[in-house]
Amino acid sequence: MLTLHVNGERHTLAAEPHHTLLEVLREEMGLTGTKHGCELGECGACTVLVDGAPILSCLTLPIEIGDREVTTVEGLAKGPDLDPLQIAFAEEAAAQCGYCTPGMLLAAKALLERTPLPSREQIEHAISGNLCRCTGYTAIYEAIEKAAKRA
Ligand code: FES
Ligand code: FES
Repeated sequence: MLTLHVNGERHTLAAEPHHTLLEVLREEMGLTGTKHGCELGECGACTVLVDGAPILSCLTLPIEIGDREVTTVEGLAKGPDLDPLQIAFAEEAAAQCGYCTPGMLLAAKALLERTPLPSREQIEHAISGNLCRCTGYTAIYEAIEKAAKRA
């Protein structure tokens, strides 16, 4: 049995001790917004926030999390209100296949929390661990800039 704090709620559940946070989120908790990519720490598709900082859930065991708060893409919206980043991504067509998008959104969320008006260079650095095969990144950079200016 393990206890995790995810998206503002406390969950106690049974999971294999060798299952990664990515596997527990998706398979035990049904939070499939967090994506299975490389499972090697190279693509960023599995990015979630732990106490506001991005981590790779494919390389993290739930026991390492302790009492810290996990935020997945499902926790970004507040009820019916999307996060400004989600709105800007939709407006700028910054998601195409969408596979990288949850990780991108969370990496960008962490950036805007610590740097509300980031430079293009800071944005590039913040999402440099998140690979996108579709967009060429320009729309993603522009969406993050748009969300930052609105906030
Ligand atoms: S699935 Fe975790 S970095 Fe690729
Ligand atoms: S939108 Fe397809 S991988 Fe980024």
